[in-house]
Amino acid sequence: MLFTGKIIRSTVRHLKDWAKSSETVRSILYDLRNSEGFGDLYEHEKMLADRARVDAYVEAIKRLVQPEHVVLDLGTGTGLLAMLAARRGAKRVYAIDHSKFIEIAKLVARCNGIDNITFVQQNSRSFSPPEKIDIIVHEQLGDALFNENMLENLFDLKRRVLKTTGRILPGRFELFLEPVSLKPAHSVPYLWENSIDGLEFKPLRDNAALRPYQLSNHGTRFIPVGAVSHFLGRPAPVLTLDVNEVDDIKAVPTTFQQRRSVVQGGTMDGFCLYFRADFDETTSFGISPVEVPATFRSWGNTLFRAPQHRYVSGDEITYRVVLSELTDPSTWSVVLT
Ligand SMILES: C[S@@+](CC[C@H](N)C(=O)[O-])C[C@H]1O[C@@H](n2cnc3c(N)ncnc32)[C@H](O)[C@@H]1O
Repeated sequence: MLFTGKIIRSTVRHLKDWAKSSETVRSILYDLRNSEGFGDLYEHEKMLADRARVDAYVEAIKRLVQPEHVVLDLGTGTGLLAMLAARRGAKRVYAIDHSKFIEIAKLVARCNGIDNITFVQQNSRSFSPPEKIDIIVHEQLGDALFNENMLENLFDLKRRVLKTTGRILPGRFELFLEPVSLKPAHSVPYLWENSIDGLEFKPLRDNAALRPYQLSNHGTRFIPVGAVSHFLGRPAPVLTLDVNEVDDIKAVPTTFQQRRSVVQGGTMDGFCLYFRADFDETTSFGISPVEVPATFRSWGNTLFRAPQHRYVSGDEITYRVVLSELTDPSTWSVVLT
């Protein structure tokens, strides 16, 4: 009996170790893909062209970084945020990036006569600076807000290297999944919603024969800037999270019930995913699909599709949002209730 108990305990321990290591393997594979993805000019040129994004960082760093601050730029890329902090007169600036592209950041700093940044090519989760940090600046925001490992990387640095009085910029995030009507030029109904010159596709609704032809991402579509005609209701964040106040990804809720009263009628195509990021009460940026920027936008919006339905003013739309794994939007669901 004693022997059996020992075997069970040891098996459970091994299973736990295995689960932990597979999580680690997943994380390592993600980092490899990420550093490869940011390893050439393509993404960096897009990010610099996004002036709404860049201007928000310029303004926030100018206002919030002080000469007594030790600053860490997590994922420095072209070195932009580190150089802004250095020019602001920060006491010391550490700029880290796991990508070889950091060589370009060093070159840009040199060309600008900036020589007080310590550049380190390393993953943030294995980086330990010789002193505690006052300000972490970062831009680790994915199209689905959390899908570039932002929370894991920030919570790790917060735990290990940020002063208790320190601050993460930007730190407050709002995630939206808002019922929208698309402009006709962008609206794509499901196959079974078509009726063309007397030909009906409706009988195919829920037909099992379609299943082999339905990709796993059939429920979502990437939509270009300017595709949304209007919100049906008044937008409200599904989730608001301040990483300066929370310490653990497990503390973030993942299931939400939502209700919108329709204020502008129209055909609903689905729920548009977007976010807002705040540095403080004054400076923020976001990718609302109805605020079409004057310059290039480096992020895109995803539509979680819904059966097309016409709503009129005063109707109620209720829906349930489940973000099973925060870092993986392919596990998210948005369902009318
Ligand atoms: C979205 S880009 C932002 C680049 C730059 N900060 C900017 O705002 O233009 C994110 C950068 O973070 C880097 N990165 C992502 N995860 C990282 C990690 N865990 N450790 C170090 N660098 C990381 C990527 O290689 C990439 O250069």
